[in-house]
Amino acid sequence: MASTSKPELYSIDDFEKYASDHLPKMVKDYFNGAALDGVTLRANLSSYLDYYIRPRVLRDVSKVKTRTRAFKDGNEIPFPLCVAPAAMQKMAHPEGEEAMARGCAGFGTVMGLSSFSTTSLEAVKEQADRARRSAGFVGESECVLQMYLFENFQTSVDLIRRAEKKGYKAIVLTVDTPYFGRRLTEIRNRFKLPGHLRMANFPDSLGVKTGSEHRTNDLDKARPLTPHAANPSLTWESIKQLKQVTSLPIWLKGIMTPDDAMLAVEHGADAIFVSNHGGRQLDHAPPTLSVLREIAEAVKGRLPIHFDGGVRRGSDIFKALCLGADIAWIGRPALWALAYDGEDGVRNALKILEEEFRACMALSGCASLQELGPHCLMATERTERGKL
Ligand code: FNR
Ligand code: LAC
Repeated sequence: MASTSKPELYSIDDFEKYASDHLPKMVKDYFNGAALDGVTLRANLSSYLDYYIRPRVLRDVSKVKTRTRAFKDGNEIPFPLCVAPAAMQKMAHPEGEEAMARGCAGFGTVMGLSSFSTTSLEAVKEQADRARRSAGFVGESECVLQMYLFENFQTSVDLIRRAEKKGYKAIVLTVDTPYFGRRLTEIRNRFKLPGHLRMANFPDSLGVKTGSEHRTNDLDKARPLTPHAANPSLTWESIKQLKQVTSLPIWLKGIMTPDDAMLAVEHGADAIFVSNHGGRQLDHAPPTLSVLREIAEAVKGRLPIHFDGGVRRGSDIFKALCLGADIAWIGRPALWALAYDGEDGVRNALKILEEEFRACMALSGCASLQELGPHCLMATERTERGKL
């Protein structure tokens, strides 16, 4: 449990409260913030209220099997939850991404590393491997590298080569950032990476900055400039180009419509990641839960479907799986847990969600993940959107 003098925490909301009360304002606002009015951020959270879970009884749930895999021939993970890429984690905790990597690998799940990390991708993988070994798991840890296709293509290729060499399992290409979302708290706070930290995957000479740092209070710089961040001229052809330079699986993160999901299939993506970037990009985009089912119907099992957005409870993961997700991911909850107690905090938060998820399965009468489907849910009277 929590080390010296830290309160014991029992739910993701507790972690949020602790982190929000203890982080410096600029960091808290960066982690918790969203684009413009936060409509999509709030909708992500409240969309789980569109569904009730049908309790089924007398079905022998003495063995509830939650184990699954993020990769077809990969490790087993304890339950269908992994940790989404989030930038600049040393702002949450001095050990930043290294502690996050140990927390994830010690629990036995996959870490998504942001290429805008304050620790090099090499150091992160080494920490994950070490933690996996000391937790007694067999095999190597599994990490995926999130990245953008930069205006300078070679910058991306260099990063991919390093990820290949270090044994990353996939490239998660973020496709929802041709412009960075306009986040008012970051602009008001003149958000900047604290001076003692650096973007560790790039030489300082490249001057890599996040969108927010670029256009602080400067409307003319609303989009990040070369070679710092995502290239706004990318198209589906760019995916083919990327597939030619690496044999690592390419996942597309930020798919929100059935049409784009079909294009992802056609262009050879290896998985899609249904995400609205935690409400940080297009405000008024729909909540991810609401588009999941139509996307799953379009994909028809041809690709794995990863999912994030507002997951704060085991029952949220349950609902996402019922509507077609294969694996759910958490962004902010892992950052709050890291801020609370580094590696141990991350492991504890994952354990809490695992317990909640397992109880949710048992109480709905599901002993295996294969039993989850739309029939386990019913629309609440709250909204028509939840209609099944
Ligand atoms: C993110 N996210 C993100 N995504 C990405 O592709 N690259 C990145 O560098 C980041 N950075 C980042 C920083 C912070 C502070 C947050 C909160 C999020 C988005 C992230 O991967 C994920 O899509 C959302 O966080 C999911 O929503 P929840 O779980 O935070 O509600
Ligand atoms: C963010 C970027 C870095 O959401 O993806 O802050």
